[in-house]
Amino acid sequence: MKNTINLSIDENGVAELLFDMPDSPVNLLSSNVLNELEQHLIGMSENKTIKIALFTSAKDGIFIAGADISEIADLDDEKTSYDKVKRGQSILSRISVLPFPTVAIINGACLGGGFELALSCDFRIATENSKTKIGLPEVNLGVLPGFGGTQRLKRLIGFSKSLELILGGKIINGNKAQKLGMVDACVPVGYLDFKQDSFIKSILDDNERSKILSKRYKDNLLEKYLPNIILYFAKKEVMKKTKGQYPAPLAILDLFEQTKDVRLDEAIEMEATSFAKLSITQISKNLIGLFYTSEALKKENGTDKKIKTHPIKLTAVVGGGIMGAGIVWLFSKIGLSVRLVDQNYGAIGNAFKFINSAYQAIVKRRRLTKREVEIKMGHISYSCDYVGLKHADLCVEAIIENREAKKKLYANLEAIVDKKAIIATNTSSISVTSLAGDMKYPERFVGMHFFNPVNRMPLVEIIAGEKTSPEAVATVVELAKRGGKIPIIVGDCAGFLVNRVLLPYINEAIKMFEEGEDIERIDKLILDFGMPMGPFTLADEVGLDVGYKVGCVLEEAYGKRMKVANMFDIIYNQKKLLGKKAGKGFYIHSGKNKSINKDVKDLVTMQHSYNSEEIVDRMMLVMLNEASRCLEEGVIKNADYLDMALILGTGFPPFRGGLMRYAQNRGINNVVVTLHRLADAYGSRFEPCELLIRMAKNNENFFEE
Ligand code: NAI
Repeated sequence: MKNTINLSIDENGVAELLFDMPDSPVNLLSSNVLNELEQHLIGMSENKTIKIALFTSAKDGIFIAGADISEIADLDDEKTSYDKVKRGQSILSRISVLPFPTVAIINGACLGGGFELALSCDFRIATENSKTKIGLPEVNLGVLPGFGGTQRLKRLIGFSKSLELILGGKIINGNKAQKLGMVDACVPVGYLDFKQDSFIKSILDDNERSKILSKRYKDNLLEKYLPNIILYFAKKEVMKKTKGQYPAPLAILDLFEQTKDVRLDEAIEMEATSFAKLSITQISKNLIGLFYTSEALKKENGTDKKIKTHPIKLTAVVGGGIMGAGIVWLFSKIGLSVRLVDQNYGAIGNAFKFINSAYQAIVKRRRLTKREVEIKMGHISYSCDYVGLKHADLCVEAIIENREAKKKLYANLEAIVDKKAIIATNTSSISVTSLAGDMKYPERFVGMHFFNPVNRMPLVEIIAGEKTSPEAVATVVELAKRGGKIPIIVGDCAGFLVNRVLLPYINEAIKMFEEGEDIERIDKLILDFGMPMGPFTLADEVGLDVGYKVGCVLEEAYGKRMKVANMFDIIYNQKKLLGKKAGKGFYIHSGKNKSINKDVKDLVTMQHSYNSEEIVDRMMLVMLNEASRCLEEGVIKNADYLDMALILGTGFPPFRGGLMRYAQNRGINNVVVTLHRLADAYGSRFEPCELLIRMAKNNENFFEE
């Protein structure tokens, strides 16, 4: 087997441990690499010629990307996990006791175990390379840093800053890392060699070295007495964000509490114990599964082939409502020229208000300066007609959800834009193939379904119609990624994937309300299940008009099982309620507060209280049944992507791993038995689909165990 670490020692006694994992674009701290490292460290500790040791990487844009996650995924008993993490700790601790100074040269991703290695060194230099990313993101995988990282970081930058970074799994650039004291210097990449040499000289000079060390964090009285207060507020924040459903952040808080006044070796021991407990939880396995899925999605280009995409520089968005405004904002943010077209000047004015406020939120978080925002806003032009669209490389249509209006618009657009320009629709429910029916060049037409609000929702469903070219698909996939979104290819059916699965869920909640169940109780139970909001709150947020119209499209396409609940009809068509945007829906909304809308509540006179489990089952299994149909019909490539799409598009709780993972953890047989029972009690919409029946019969699963 080829080695990962190459040791060289020059005539000045400068040792370099160069990490270069064979046949891999990244360096990982796998068990094998750690063993190799240990051998080097043992040899180096006895080598009297070494004056200083540098830890470097030969990979482009990577220092050490982390521990080998597949090894964490495989852990299934606490003792093995503890032994493994202890071994990692003891190897990294060897770095900290080497008889000469050690320096990590961080020019690229330095995450998790990689940063823990860097923390074991005496000094760290980072670069301003945009690929230099530093942090301990283990919490996102349901564990905590286990190679001494929690304790070494705390000693390096202080209690509150380290807690914040570790709890948030924050990843930051070199300059910020220097500001926080995580690295001793941050230098431009071009100067790295030169700066590295002068840094080595400084470290080897007593005076200069103490100057570097004097800039480090010093324990202060405030930090000594503050931890309890910091922990109290941090816990409050964690509970608010996670409702206690994620064990890792709570374990991190406990560890920080227990190790407040404990020696490093004892504290590290506690860290290992805590890591071992977390690493074998189902929640950690679920989160690791999602990590793999997001990595797989990054590699997708939307087609099976390597394809040249259409260059996109000039764009247009037609329809400046809530969605159009969001898309214009996104395009301008990534530096594209964008022309906003709406038939109505008022709508354009509102769109600019929205775009401005989305940018102001970023300025407030100091991610962009006012000047940068001015430049980006300068990329936006507008008009009420189609002039100026001739040169557009891409036009996104985001007008009202009306088939005829959309088709008429495409005819107008095709008469103006170049025949190669891509036309994308943001329709939330109408088949792309049907919309392309009268187009002259249907191969350039593609679905690009953003979610509301565009500036916060990461998912974009990409839909190819029957005649859409792979080039058009690959182009919008690439564009969505450029915008920081996660594009997922879904089939061209009514509602595509997310709305097709979500609408039956909202419908089911409304049906239970019709049967006499309490709106707030349903919302609360679903919130407790882990969804970001209950179904009635969600319906109000989305807009009852939007939800109702999508519901009708789905009923038309799928028939009885998607029949729009009567009460939805009454509330939208008779009561004319629109939800939060008009202040009234299932709830009365006033600013951030909401209270139940008595007028709606009083529409149902009978009362019926289901048991909690029944409510959750009806809600989750109606979705699950439809999601399984989507899988069966090939609307989505696999169960992993399906889970990710629902997590990103509906907020399905990641700690459950996704809807299909939830089904598997619960047992497919149990799902099918429960669906049969629900079908008997409430109607045929619950009859399990063929895929589920077959899987239960053959003892199959969605995912490998
Ligand atoms: P909206 O009703 O807020 O805005 C539509 C805008 O299009 C209006 O400003 C209207 O003046 C303009 N418009 C209508 N016909 C036009 C034409 N022929 N030429 C130029 N402008 C025209 O609609 P919204 O909510 O922004 O939705 C737009 C599209 O996005 C729809 O297809 C909808 O299904 C889809 N969508 C909506 C989501 C939502 O939550 N609202 C989520 C995802 C997709």
